[in-house]
Amino acid sequence: MAHSTAIYPGSFDPITNGHVDLVKRTLRVFEKVIVAIATNPDKDHSLFTVPERLEMINGVFADLKGRVLADSFHGLLVNYAERKGSTVIIRGLRAVSDFEYEFQMALMNHRLKPQLETLFMMTGESEFYTSSRLVKEVVGLGGDVSGLVPDNVLKKLKEKFKR
Ligand code: PNS
Repeated sequence: MAHSTAIYPGSFDPITNGHVDLVKRTLRVFEKVIVAIATNPDKDHSLFTVPERLEMINGVFADLKGRVLADSFHGLLVNYAERKGSTVIIRGLRAVSDFEYEFQMALMNHRLKPQLETLFMMTGESEFYTSSRLVKEVVGLGGDVSGLVPDNVLKKLKEKFKR
């Protein structure tokens, strides 16, 4: 296979079942996936710390160890991909509303490093309306998100919002 490792970048604050579905489907095409948390210490409004997010991702893919690697990076994604020796970025597309932002990022990344390709996967139908942002909002307001996030993430979310 020409490209055996794909990079799946994002905030993953926290990882949802939509992300998990995407990683598993990516593994049908690529040998390995690096789930890469982009960090920006200057403007970080994340709910979970990077170590917490890494731990949750590692927990979710414990039985796929070796094929799914969790990592974090600072700075430009294109430089990170180069350091990892990968030329493929995976992103998920949900509704049409995702398209413009994703299109802009893909074109900018391509301009920065033309040898880099962004591949889009359609999000599974049951995860269509799931997003980390909405999951946090719903849990924060006392709603139930079981089934939308992995069990270890659900537990961590409940702990975060325990008052
Ligand atoms: O899950 P998100 O927040 O939609 O992911 C966005 C992410 C992390 C993929 C994007 O912000 C990113 O690539 N950040 C790294 C910094 C960078 O390369 N910025 C220029 C993007 S064109």
